[in-house]
Amino acid sequence: MDLRSVCWCVLLSVLLSSYAEARRLFFRGRQFGGMLGSPRRGTNVTINVPDEYFEQQLDHFNPTEARTFQQRYFTNASFHLPGGPVFLMIGGEAAANPAWVLEGQWINYAQKYHALCFMLEHRFYGLSRPTKNIDTKYLRTLSSEQALSDLANFIEAMTIKYELPPNTKWIAFGGSYPGSLAAWLRAKFPHLVEGAVSASAPLLAKADFKEYYRVVKDDLSLYNSSCVSSLREANHGLRTLLKTPMGQETVNIMFRLCDPIDVLISNDVSALYDTLAMNLAGIAQYNNENRQETNEAINLNVVCKVMVNESIGTPVHRYAAITNMILEQSGVMCLDYKYDSLISDLSEVDWESDYAEGARQWFYQTCTEFGFYQTSSLTIDIFGNEFPLDFFVQQCADVFGKMFNKEQLMRGIRRTNINYGAMNQRASRIVYVHGSLDPWHALGITKTLDLQSPAIYIRGTAHCADMFASLPSDPPQLQYARKIIDSLIGLWLVEK
Ligand SMILES: *[C@@H]1O[C@H](CO)[C@@H](O)[C@H](O)[C@H]1NC(C)=O
Ligand SMILES: *[C@@H]1O[C@H](CO)[C@@H](O)[C@H](O)[C@H]1NC(C)=O
Ligand SMILES: *[C@@H]1O[C@H](CO)[C@@H](O)[C@H](O)[C@H]1NC(C)=O
Ligand SMILES: *[C@@H]1O[C@H](CO)[C@@H](O)[C@H](O)[C@H]1NC(C)=O
Repeated sequence: MDLRSVCWCVLLSVLLSSYAEARRLFFRGRQFGGMLGSPRRGTNVTINVPDEYFEQQLDHFNPTEARTFQQRYFTNASFHLPGGPVFLMIGGEAAANPAWVLEGQWINYAQKYHALCFMLEHRFYGLSRPTKNIDTKYLRTLSSEQALSDLANFIEAMTIKYELPPNTKWIAFGGSYPGSLAAWLRAKFPHLVEGAVSASAPLLAKADFKEYYRVVKDDLSLYNSSCVSSLREANHGLRTLLKTPMGQETVNIMFRLCDPIDVLISNDVSALYDTLAMNLAGIAQYNNENRQETNEAINLNVVCKVMVNESIGTPVHRYAAITNMILEQSGVMCLDYKYDSLISDLSEVDWESDYAEGARQWFYQTCTEFGFYQTSSLTIDIFGNEFPLDFFVQQCADVFGKMFNKEQLMRGIRRTNINYGAMNQRASRIVYVHGSLDPWHALGITKTLDLQSPAIYIRGTAHCADMFASLPSDPPQLQYARKIIDSLIGLWLVEK
Protein backbone atom coordinates (compact mmCIF):
# COMPACT_ATOMS: atom_id res chain seq x y z
CA MET A 1 0.00 0.00 0.00
CA ASP A 2 1.60 3.23 -0.95
CA LEU A 3 1.22 6.41 0.96
CA ARG A 4 -1.37 7.78 -1.40
CA SER A 5 -3.88 4.99 -0.88
CA VAL A 6 -3.42 5.25 2.88
CA CYS A 7 -4.30 8.87 2.62
CA TRP A 8 -7.36 7.92 0.67
CA CYS A 9 -8.59 5.50 3.32
CA VAL A 10 -8.23 8.12 6.01
CA LEU A 11 -9.92 10.71 3.88
CA LEU A 12 -12.76 8.41 2.93
CA SER A 13 -13.54 7.30 6.46
CA VAL A 14 -13.65 10.85 7.70
CA LEU A 15 -15.64 12.13 4.82
CA LEU A 16 -18.45 9.68 5.37
CA SER A 17 -19.23 11.16 8.75
CA SER A 18 -19.28 14.69 7.43
CA TYR A 19 -20.64 14.13 3.97
CA ALA A 20 -23.98 15.77 4.65
CA GLU A 21 -22.25 18.73 6.19
CA ALA A 22 -19.81 18.98 3.34
CA ARG A 23 -22.69 19.18 0.96
CA ARG A 24 -24.47 21.74 3.02
CA LEU A 25 -21.49 24.04 3.21
CA PHE A 26 -20.29 23.52 -0.28
CA PHE A 27 -23.62 23.68 -1.82
CA ARG A 28 -24.07 26.04 -4.67
CA GLY A 29 -26.64 28.07 -2.88
CA ARG A 30 -23.75 30.42 -2.43
CA GLN A 31 -23.44 31.06 -6.12
CA PHE A 32 -26.85 32.64 -6.27
CA GLY A 33 -26.20 36.01 -4.97
CA GLY A 34 -27.90 36.09 -1.71
CA MET A 35 -28.57 34.02 1.30
CA LEU A 36 -28.43 37.06 3.40
CA GLY A 37 -27.57 35.42 6.65
CA SER A 38 -27.17 37.03 10.01
CA PRO A 39 -27.19 40.80 10.30
CA ARG A 40 -24.39 40.82 12.83
CA ARG A 41 -20.94 40.09 11.58
CA GLY A 42 -18.70 37.47 13.11
CA THR A 43 -20.54 36.97 16.37
CA ASN A 44 -23.41 34.88 17.66
CA VAL A 45 -26.83 36.40 17.88
CA THR A 46 -29.21 35.30 20.61
CA ILE A 47 -32.65 35.29 19.15
CA ASN A 48 -35.83 35.37 21.10
CA VAL A 49 -38.32 36.40 18.48
CA PRO A 50 -41.56 34.41 18.24
CA ASP A 51 -42.71 32.95 14.93
CA GLU A 52 -45.99 34.49 13.82
CA TYR A 53 -48.21 33.38 10.97
CA PHE A 54 -50.96 34.84 8.89
CA GLU A 55 -53.30 33.38 6.33
CA GLN A 56 -52.13 33.95 2.77
CA GLN A 57 -53.80 33.16 -0.57
CA LEU A 58 -52.23 30.21 -2.35
CA ASP A 59 -52.65 31.72 -5.81
CA HIS A 60 -53.21 35.44 -6.32
CA PHE A 61 -53.80 35.05 -10.03
CA ASN A 62 -56.51 32.44 -10.08
CA PRO A 63 -59.83 33.79 -8.79
CA THR A 64 -61.28 30.30 -8.52
CA GLU A 65 -58.53 29.13 -6.17
CA ALA A 66 -59.73 29.53 -2.58
CA ARG A 67 -56.98 27.65 -0.78
CA THR A 68 -54.68 29.47 1.63
CA PHE A 69 -51.49 28.73 3.56
CA GLN A 70 -49.79 29.98 6.71
CA GLN A 71 -47.04 32.47 5.96
CA ARG A 72 -44.45 33.23 8.63
CA TYR A 73 -43.36 36.67 9.75
CA PHE A 74 -41.49 38.36 12.59
CA THR A 75 -42.35 41.59 14.38
CA ASN A 76 -40.48 44.17 16.41
CA ALA A 77 -42.87 46.79 17.75
CA SER A 78 -40.47 48.18 20.37
CA PHE A 79 -39.64 51.42 18.56
CA HIS A 80 -43.06 52.18 17.20
CA LEU A 81 -44.93 55.29 18.26
CA PRO A 82 -48.55 56.00 17.24
CA GLY A 83 -48.57 57.57 13.79
CA GLY A 84 -45.07 56.24 13.07
CA PRO A 85 -44.12 54.49 9.81
CA VAL A 86 -43.84 50.76 9.14
CA PHE A 87 -40.64 49.18 7.87
CA LEU A 88 -40.90 45.90 6.00
CA MET A 89 -37.89 43.62 5.50
CA ILE A 90 -38.49 41.25 2.62
CA GLY A 91 -37.35 37.63 2.78
CA GLY A 92 -36.24 35.42 -0.10
CA GLU A 93 -33.78 32.76 -1.29
CA ALA A 94 -33.70 31.08 2.11
CA ALA A 95 -35.57 30.86 5.41
CA ALA A 96 -36.11 34.27 6.98
CA ASN A 97 -33.70 34.91 9.83
CA PRO A 98 -35.48 36.46 12.85
CA ALA A 99 -32.23 38.17 13.88
CA TRP A 100 -33.07 40.79 11.28
CA VAL A 101 -35.86 42.25 13.42
CA LEU A 102 -33.30 42.84 16.18
CA GLU A 103 -30.28 44.02 14.25
CA GLY A 104 -28.97 45.44 11.04
CA GLN A 105 -28.73 48.98 9.77
CA TRP A 106 -32.47 49.27 9.13
CA ILE A 107 -33.08 48.78 12.88
CA ASN A 108 -31.08 51.97 13.49
CA TYR A 109 -33.32 53.79 11.02
CA ALA A 110 -36.38 52.25 12.72
CA GLN A 111 -35.24 53.54 16.10
CA LYS A 112 -34.72 56.97 14.69
CA TYR A 113 -38.06 57.14 12.87
CA HIS A 114 -40.08 55.15 15.46
CA ALA A 115 -41.06 52.50 12.95
CA LEU A 116 -42.97 49.31 13.45
CA CYS A 117 -40.77 46.54 11.98
CA PHE A 118 -41.83 43.39 10.17
CA MET A 119 -39.98 40.74 8.26
CA LEU A 120 -42.07 38.56 5.95
CA GLU A 121 -40.74 35.19 4.92
CA HIS A 122 -40.97 34.44 1.19
CA ARG A 123 -43.47 31.74 0.23
CA PHE A 124 -41.93 28.26 -0.15
CA TYR A 125 -38.88 29.12 1.96
CA GLY A 126 -38.23 28.25 5.59
CA LEU A 127 -41.49 27.50 7.38
CA SER A 128 -43.77 29.26 4.89
CA ARG A 129 -44.95 26.09 3.22
CA PRO A 130 -47.93 26.38 0.90
CA THR A 131 -47.93 22.78 -0.34
CA LYS A 132 -47.43 19.33 1.11
CA ASN A 133 -43.97 19.05 -0.42
CA ILE A 134 -41.91 20.80 -3.09
CA ASP A 135 -42.42 18.45 -5.97
CA THR A 136 -42.10 20.29 -9.28
CA LYS A 137 -45.87 20.14 -9.83
CA TYR A 138 -46.41 22.11 -6.60
CA LEU A 139 -43.93 24.85 -7.45
CA ARG A 140 -46.25 26.51 -9.95
CA THR A 141 -47.16 29.18 -7.40
CA LEU A 142 -43.53 29.91 -6.52
CA SER A 143 -42.71 33.15 -8.30
CA SER A 144 -41.65 36.72 -7.64
CA GLU A 145 -45.09 37.90 -8.79
CA GLN A 146 -46.86 35.76 -6.20
CA ALA A 147 -44.35 37.02 -3.62
CA LEU A 148 -45.15 40.65 -4.44
CA SER A 149 -48.86 40.00 -4.04
CA ASP A 150 -48.10 38.22 -0.76
CA LEU A 151 -46.38 41.41 0.41
CA ALA A 152 -49.32 43.57 -0.66
CA ASN A 153 -51.73 41.27 1.18
CA PHE A 154 -49.49 41.27 4.23
CA ILE A 155 -49.50 45.08 4.31
CA GLU A 156 -53.30 45.05 4.27
CA ALA A 157 -53.50 42.36 6.96
CA MET A 158 -51.11 44.17 9.34
CA THR A 159 -52.84 47.48 8.75
CA ILE A 160 -56.00 45.85 10.10
CA LYS A 161 -54.31 43.88 12.87
CA TYR A 162 -52.44 46.92 14.25
CA GLU A 163 -55.27 49.35 13.46
CA LEU A 164 -52.83 51.58 11.60
CA PRO A 165 -54.19 54.94 10.47
CA PRO A 166 -54.85 55.14 6.71
CA ASN A 167 -51.99 57.56 6.02
CA THR A 168 -49.36 55.23 7.56
CA LYS A 169 -46.23 55.09 5.42
CA TRP A 170 -44.58 51.77 4.64
CA ILE A 171 -40.95 51.52 3.54
CA ALA A 172 -39.67 48.28 1.99
CA PHE A 173 -36.16 46.92 2.55
CA GLY A 174 -34.35 44.01 0.96
CA GLY A 175 -30.95 42.80 -0.17
CA SER A 176 -30.06 40.69 -3.21
CA TYR A 177 -33.21 39.08 -4.74
CA PRO A 178 -35.36 40.56 -1.92
CA GLY A 179 -33.77 43.89 -2.90
CA SER A 180 -35.23 43.40 -6.38
CA LEU A 181 -38.57 42.61 -4.74
CA ALA A 182 -38.35 45.82 -2.69
CA ALA A 183 -37.92 47.91 -5.84
CA TRP A 184 -40.64 46.04 -7.74
CA LEU A 185 -43.02 46.30 -4.77
CA ARG A 186 -42.71 50.07 -4.82
CA ALA A 187 -43.17 50.09 -8.61
CA LYS A 188 -46.21 47.78 -8.60
CA PHE A 189 -47.93 48.97 -5.42
CA PRO A 190 -47.11 52.68 -4.99
CA HIS A 191 -50.37 53.15 -3.08
CA LEU A 192 -49.13 50.67 -0.44
CA VAL A 193 -45.42 51.39 -0.22
CA GLU A 194 -43.99 54.87 0.10
CA GLY A 195 -40.39 54.03 -0.72
CA ALA A 196 -37.87 51.22 -1.06
CA VAL A 197 -34.27 50.63 -0.06
CA SER A 198 -33.02 48.12 -2.61
CA ALA A 199 -29.59 46.69 -1.80
CA SER A 200 -27.39 44.76 -4.26
CA ALA A 201 -30.44 43.98 -6.35
CA PRO A 202 -30.21 42.33 -9.77
CA LEU A 203 -32.89 43.95 -11.95
CA LEU A 204 -31.97 42.50 -15.32
CA ALA A 205 -32.87 38.84 -15.69
CA LYS A 206 -30.25 37.12 -17.81
CA ALA A 207 -29.48 33.48 -18.54
CA ASP A 208 -25.75 33.85 -19.16
CA PHE A 209 -24.53 36.04 -16.30
CA LYS A 210 -20.99 35.99 -17.64
CA GLU A 211 -20.20 39.44 -16.24
CA TYR A 212 -20.17 37.93 -12.75
CA TYR A 213 -16.68 36.48 -13.15
CA ARG A 214 -15.48 39.57 -14.94
CA VAL A 215 -16.13 41.48 -11.71
CA VAL A 216 -14.44 38.74 -9.67
CA LYS A 217 -11.45 39.07 -11.99
CA ASP A 218 -11.43 42.86 -11.55
CA ASP A 219 -11.62 42.39 -7.78
CA LEU A 220 -8.61 40.10 -7.79
CA SER A 221 -6.54 42.37 -9.99
CA LEU A 222 -7.31 45.24 -7.65
CA TYR A 223 -5.38 43.41 -4.96
CA ASN A 224 -2.49 42.35 -7.15
CA SER A 225 -2.40 42.22 -10.92
CA SER A 226 -0.30 39.06 -10.65
CA CYS A 227 -3.18 37.44 -8.80
CA VAL A 228 -5.23 37.06 -11.99
CA SER A 229 -2.34 35.68 -14.00
CA SER A 230 -1.61 33.17 -11.23
CA LEU A 231 -5.22 32.06 -11.26
CA ARG A 232 -5.03 31.68 -15.04
CA GLU A 233 -1.91 29.54 -14.71
CA ALA A 234 -3.52 27.54 -11.91
CA ASN A 235 -6.47 26.59 -14.09
CA HIS A 236 -4.09 25.81 -16.92
CA GLY A 237 -2.09 23.61 -14.55
CA LEU A 238 -5.27 21.88 -13.43
CA ARG A 239 -6.20 21.15 -17.04
CA THR A 240 -2.78 19.64 -17.66
CA LEU A 241 -3.00 17.44 -14.57
CA LEU A 242 -6.43 16.17 -15.53
CA LYS A 243 -4.99 14.82 -18.80
CA THR A 244 -3.14 11.91 -17.20
CA PRO A 245 -4.17 9.26 -14.63
CA MET A 246 -1.29 10.29 -12.41
CA GLY A 247 -2.22 13.92 -12.64
CA GLN A 248 -5.82 13.04 -11.79
CA GLU A 249 -4.68 11.28 -8.62
CA THR A 250 -2.69 14.36 -7.71
CA VAL A 251 -5.80 16.50 -8.18
CA ASN A 252 -7.86 14.12 -6.01
CA ILE A 253 -5.45 14.57 -3.14
CA MET A 254 -4.37 18.16 -3.65
CA PHE A 255 -7.93 19.51 -3.78
CA ARG A 256 -9.21 16.97 -1.24
CA LEU A 257 -11.98 15.72 -3.50
CA CYS A 258 -14.62 13.62 -1.72
CA ASP A 259 -14.82 11.37 -4.78
CA PRO A 260 -11.95 10.80 -7.22
CA ILE A 261 -12.37 12.63 -10.48
CA ASP A 262 -13.51 10.67 -13.52
CA VAL A 263 -12.64 12.78 -16.53
CA LEU A 264 -14.95 10.71 -18.73
CA ILE A 265 -17.88 12.29 -16.89
CA SER A 266 -17.76 15.71 -18.49
CA ASN A 267 -20.35 17.16 -16.10
CA ASP A 268 -18.08 16.24 -13.20
CA VAL A 269 -15.17 18.06 -14.79
CA SER A 270 -17.33 21.13 -15.33
CA ALA A 271 -18.68 20.84 -11.80
CA LEU A 272 -15.15 20.69 -10.39
CA TYR A 273 -14.03 23.84 -12.21
CA ASP A 274 -17.28 25.52 -11.26
CA THR A 275 -17.03 24.57 -7.58
CA LEU A 276 -13.46 25.84 -7.31
CA ALA A 277 -14.34 29.09 -9.06
CA MET A 278 -17.41 29.46 -6.87
CA ASN A 279 -15.36 29.24 -3.69
CA LEU A 280 -13.23 32.08 -4.94
CA ALA A 281 -16.28 34.02 -6.06
CA GLY A 282 -17.84 33.62 -2.63
CA ILE A 283 -14.82 35.33 -1.13
CA ALA A 284 -15.11 38.23 -3.54
CA GLN A 285 -18.87 38.57 -3.12
CA TYR A 286 -18.66 38.65 0.66
CA ASN A 287 -15.24 40.27 1.01
CA ASN A 288 -14.65 41.43 4.60
CA GLU A 289 -18.25 40.76 5.56
CA ASN A 290 -17.39 38.56 8.47
CA ARG A 291 -20.68 36.88 8.87
CA GLN A 292 -21.11 33.44 10.34
CA GLU A 293 -22.03 31.89 7.04
CA THR A 294 -19.03 33.16 5.20
CA ASN A 295 -15.32 32.88 5.67
CA GLU A 296 -14.13 35.14 8.39
CA ALA A 297 -10.44 35.44 7.85
CA ILE A 298 -10.22 34.59 4.17
CA ASN A 299 -10.70 37.69 2.08
CA LEU A 300 -9.44 38.86 -1.31
CA ASN A 301 -6.25 40.09 0.24
CA VAL A 302 -5.47 36.67 1.73
CA VAL A 303 -6.42 34.90 -1.51
CA CYS A 304 -4.09 37.05 -3.58
CA LYS A 305 -1.26 36.76 -1.06
CA VAL A 306 -1.46 32.99 -1.45
CA MET A 307 -1.93 33.08 -5.22
CA VAL A 308 1.28 35.05 -5.78
CA ASN A 309 3.38 33.29 -3.12
CA GLU A 310 5.89 31.16 -5.00
CA SER A 311 7.12 29.35 -1.92
CA ILE A 312 3.75 27.53 -1.69
CA GLY A 313 4.45 25.86 -5.03
CA THR A 314 3.16 26.15 -8.57
CA PRO A 315 0.01 28.20 -9.18
CA VAL A 316 -2.14 25.05 -9.11
CA HIS A 317 -0.69 24.23 -5.67
CA ARG A 318 -1.61 27.71 -4.49
CA TYR A 319 -5.14 27.34 -5.86
CA ALA A 320 -5.38 24.06 -3.96
CA ALA A 321 -4.01 25.78 -0.84
CA ILE A 322 -6.91 28.24 -0.99
CA THR A 323 -9.43 25.44 -1.41
CA ASN A 324 -7.91 23.72 1.61
CA MET A 325 -8.04 26.91 3.66
CA ILE A 326 -11.74 27.26 2.87
CA LEU A 327 -12.43 23.61 3.69
CA GLU A 328 -10.59 23.91 6.98
CA GLN A 329 -12.29 27.11 7.94
CA SER A 330 -15.67 25.54 7.23
CA GLY A 331 -14.78 22.40 9.17
CA VAL A 332 -15.36 20.28 6.10
CA MET A 333 -13.18 17.29 5.35
CA CYS A 334 -13.44 17.12 1.61
CA LEU A 335 -14.69 18.88 -1.46
CA ASP A 336 -18.01 17.58 -2.73
CA TYR A 337 -18.22 18.54 -6.37
CA LYS A 338 -20.00 15.62 -8.07
CA TYR A 339 -22.66 16.57 -10.58
CA ASP A 340 -24.92 13.66 -9.63
CA SER A 341 -24.85 14.50 -5.96
CA LEU A 342 -25.75 18.09 -6.77
CA ILE A 343 -28.68 16.91 -8.87
CA SER A 344 -29.89 14.45 -6.27
CA ASP A 345 -29.66 17.09 -3.51
CA LEU A 346 -31.64 19.55 -5.59
CA SER A 347 -34.18 16.87 -6.39
CA GLU A 348 -35.24 16.36 -2.75
CA VAL A 349 -38.89 17.33 -2.43
CA ASP A 350 -39.50 16.70 1.25
CA TRP A 351 -39.86 19.81 3.44
CA GLU A 352 -37.64 18.22 6.05
CA SER A 353 -34.71 17.57 3.73
CA ASP A 354 -31.57 19.69 4.02
CA TYR A 355 -32.15 21.46 0.76
CA ALA A 356 -35.80 22.32 1.26
CA GLU A 357 -34.93 25.43 3.24
CA GLY A 358 -34.38 27.20 -0.03
CA ALA A 359 -31.77 25.76 -2.37
CA ARG A 360 -34.17 23.80 -4.56
CA GLN A 361 -36.72 26.62 -4.51
CA TRP A 362 -34.25 29.30 -5.52
CA PHE A 363 -32.89 27.07 -8.23
CA TYR A 364 -36.46 26.72 -9.52
CA GLN A 365 -36.83 30.49 -9.63
CA THR A 366 -33.60 30.79 -11.61
CA CYS A 367 -34.81 28.13 -14.07
CA THR A 368 -38.21 29.78 -14.54
CA GLU A 369 -37.71 33.54 -14.00
CA PHE A 370 -34.16 34.83 -13.78
CA GLY A 371 -31.32 32.66 -15.07
CA PHE A 372 -28.41 34.46 -13.34
CA TYR A 373 -26.05 31.58 -14.18
CA GLN A 374 -22.49 32.53 -13.47
CA THR A 375 -20.74 31.09 -16.47
CA SER A 376 -17.14 31.05 -17.60
CA SER A 377 -17.99 32.46 -21.04
CA LEU A 378 -16.47 35.90 -20.48
CA THR A 379 -13.44 34.63 -18.57
CA ILE A 380 -12.40 31.78 -20.82
CA ASP A 381 -8.84 33.03 -20.61
CA ILE A 382 -8.90 32.23 -16.88
CA PHE A 383 -11.20 29.27 -16.33
CA GLY A 384 -11.39 27.87 -19.83
CA ASN A 385 -14.97 27.54 -21.05
CA GLU A 386 -15.52 24.81 -18.50
CA PHE A 387 -18.90 25.96 -17.16
CA PRO A 388 -20.84 27.51 -20.05
CA LEU A 389 -24.57 28.27 -20.02
CA ASP A 390 -25.58 24.82 -21.30
CA PHE A 391 -24.05 23.26 -18.18
CA PHE A 392 -26.58 25.15 -16.04
CA VAL A 393 -29.52 24.67 -18.38
CA GLN A 394 -28.82 20.95 -18.20
CA GLN A 395 -29.16 21.18 -14.41
CA CYS A 396 -32.64 22.73 -14.75
CA ALA A 397 -33.74 19.81 -16.92
CA ASP A 398 -32.07 17.19 -14.73
CA VAL A 399 -33.65 18.58 -11.55
CA PHE A 400 -37.13 19.62 -12.69
CA GLY A 401 -37.77 17.67 -15.86
CA LYS A 402 -37.16 17.77 -19.60
CA MET A 403 -39.55 20.63 -20.30
CA PHE A 404 -37.24 22.92 -18.29
CA ASN A 405 -35.07 23.47 -21.33
CA LYS A 406 -33.35 26.49 -22.81
CA GLU A 407 -36.42 27.70 -24.72
CA GLN A 408 -38.50 27.71 -21.57
CA LEU A 409 -35.75 29.49 -19.65
CA MET A 410 -35.47 32.19 -22.32
CA ARG A 411 -39.24 32.64 -22.37
CA GLY A 412 -39.30 33.03 -18.59
CA ILE A 413 -36.49 35.57 -18.62
CA ARG A 414 -38.10 37.61 -21.37
CA ARG A 415 -41.35 37.59 -19.43
CA THR A 416 -39.59 38.79 -16.26
CA ASN A 417 -37.86 41.65 -18.03
CA ILE A 418 -41.06 42.79 -19.74
CA ASN A 419 -43.00 42.51 -16.51
CA TYR A 420 -40.59 44.50 -14.34
CA GLY A 421 -38.82 46.70 -16.87
CA ALA A 422 -35.28 45.40 -16.25
CA MET A 423 -32.91 48.37 -15.92
CA ASN A 424 -35.55 50.77 -17.15
CA GLN A 425 -37.15 51.56 -13.79
CA ARG A 426 -39.54 54.49 -13.57
CA ALA A 427 -40.83 54.39 -10.01
CA SER A 428 -39.91 57.20 -7.64
CA ARG A 429 -38.53 56.88 -4.11
CA ILE A 430 -36.35 53.85 -4.60
CA VAL A 431 -32.71 53.96 -3.62
CA TYR A 432 -30.50 51.41 -5.38
CA VAL A 433 -27.37 50.57 -3.41
CA HIS A 434 -24.44 48.54 -4.75
CA GLY A 435 -20.85 47.73 -3.84
CA SER A 436 -18.12 47.84 -6.46
CA LEU A 437 -16.63 44.49 -5.39
CA ASP A 438 -19.97 42.72 -5.50
CA PRO A 439 -20.36 40.91 -8.84
CA TRP A 440 -24.14 41.41 -8.65
CA HIS A 441 -23.79 45.12 -9.32
CA ALA A 442 -23.35 44.15 -12.99
CA LEU A 443 -27.10 43.42 -13.21
CA GLY A 444 -28.29 46.39 -11.17
CA ILE A 445 -28.65 50.15 -11.35
CA THR A 446 -25.40 51.78 -10.27
CA LYS A 447 -25.82 55.20 -11.87
CA THR A 448 -28.53 57.67 -10.98
CA LEU A 449 -30.89 57.92 -13.93
CA ASP A 450 -33.62 59.70 -12.03
CA LEU A 451 -33.17 62.06 -9.08
CA GLN A 452 -36.38 60.65 -7.58
CA SER A 453 -34.71 57.24 -7.40
CA PRO A 454 -30.98 57.69 -6.86
CA ALA A 455 -28.27 55.05 -7.10
CA ILE A 456 -25.45 54.74 -4.59
CA TYR A 457 -22.36 52.90 -5.80
CA ILE A 458 -19.96 52.23 -2.95
CA ARG A 459 -16.32 51.77 -3.89
CA GLY A 460 -14.62 48.78 -2.29
CA THR A 461 -17.57 47.11 -0.56
CA ALA A 462 -19.20 43.77 -1.25
CA HIS A 463 -22.71 42.27 -1.28
CA CYS A 464 -25.33 44.16 0.76
CA ALA A 465 -22.68 45.86 2.92
CA ASP A 466 -24.98 48.81 3.67
CA MET A 467 -27.52 46.50 5.35
CA PHE A 468 -25.29 45.34 8.16
CA ALA A 469 -25.03 47.14 11.46
CA SER A 470 -22.23 49.66 11.17
CA LEU A 471 -18.79 49.02 12.61
CA PRO A 472 -16.16 51.62 13.48
CA SER A 473 -13.89 49.95 10.91
CA ASP A 474 -16.35 50.53 8.04
CA PRO A 475 -14.80 52.62 5.25
CA PRO A 476 -15.97 56.26 5.13
CA GLN A 477 -17.75 55.79 1.79
CA LEU A 478 -19.90 53.06 3.38
CA GLN A 479 -20.67 55.22 6.40
CA TYR A 480 -21.57 58.03 4.05
CA ALA A 481 -23.87 55.77 2.01
CA ARG A 482 -25.80 54.85 5.17
CA LYS A 483 -26.19 58.55 5.99
CA ILE A 484 -27.63 59.25 2.55
CA ILE A 485 -30.07 56.33 2.87
CA ASP A 486 -31.08 57.62 6.29
CA SER A 487 -31.78 61.09 4.97
CA LEU A 488 -33.71 59.74 1.96
CA ILE A 489 -35.96 57.76 4.30
CA GLY A 490 -36.40 60.89 6.41
CA LEU A 491 -37.39 62.80 3.27
CA TRP A 492 -39.86 60.15 2.09
CA LEU A 493 -41.52 60.13 5.49
CA VAL A 494 -42.22 63.86 5.50
CA GLU A 495 -43.04 64.27 1.80
CA LYS A 496 -46.73 64.55 0.94
C1 LIG B 1 -21.08 30.83 19.10
O1 LIG B 1 -21.90 29.72 19.49
C2 LIG B 1 -21.23 28.49 19.44
C3 LIG B 1 -22.24 27.38 19.76
O2 LIG B 1 -23.36 27.86 20.40
C4 LIG B 1 -20.05 28.51 20.40
O3 LIG B 1 -19.36 27.28 20.36
C5 LIG B 1 -19.11 29.64 20.04
O4 LIG B 1 -18.06 29.73 20.97
C6 LIG B 1 -19.86 30.96 19.99
N1 LIG B 1 -18.98 32.03 19.46
C7 LIG B 1 -18.91 33.24 20.00
C8 LIG B 1 -17.98 34.19 19.33
O5 LIG B 1 -19.55 33.57 20.98
C1 LIG C 1 -36.50 45.12 19.02
O1 LIG C 1 -35.10 45.30 18.78
C2 LIG C 1 -34.41 45.84 19.86
C3 LIG C 1 -32.99 46.08 19.38
O2 LIG C 1 -32.37 44.88 19.04
C4 LIG C 1 -34.46 44.90 21.05
O3 LIG C 1 -33.79 45.46 22.15
C5 LIG C 1 -35.92 44.65 21.40
O4 LIG C 1 -35.99 43.68 22.42
C6 LIG C 1 -36.67 44.16 20.18
N1 LIG C 1 -38.09 44.05 20.51
C7 LIG C 1 -38.74 42.92 20.40
C8 LIG C 1 -40.19 42.97 20.76
O5 LIG C 1 -38.22 41.87 20.02
C1 LIG D 1 2.13 41.21 -6.27
O1 LIG D 1 2.65 39.95 -6.60
C2 LIG D 1 4.06 39.94 -6.88
C3 LIG D 1 4.47 38.53 -7.23
O2 LIG D 1 3.88 38.10 -8.40
C4 LIG D 1 4.83 40.43 -5.67
O3 LIG D 1 6.21 40.52 -5.98
C5 LIG D 1 4.29 41.80 -5.23
O4 LIG D 1 4.94 42.17 -4.03
C6 LIG D 1 2.82 41.74 -5.02
N1 LIG D 1 2.30 43.07 -4.71
C7 LIG D 1 1.61 43.33 -3.61
C8 LIG D 1 1.14 44.75 -3.44
O5 LIG D 1 1.34 42.48 -2.77
C1 LIG E 1 4.56 32.43 1.55
O1 LIG E 1 4.30 31.13 1.99
C2 LIG E 1 5.24 30.64 2.94
C3 LIG E 1 4.95 29.16 3.15
O2 LIG E 1 3.62 28.96 3.52
C4 LIG E 1 5.12 31.47 4.19
O3 LIG E 1 6.05 31.01 5.16
C5 LIG E 1 5.41 32.92 3.85
O4 LIG E 1 5.20 33.73 4.98
C6 LIG E 1 4.50 33.40 2.72
N1 LIG E 1 4.89 34.73 2.28
C7 LIG E 1 4.05 35.76 2.30
C8 LIG E 1 4.61 37.05 1.79
O5 LIG E 1 2.92 35.67 2.71
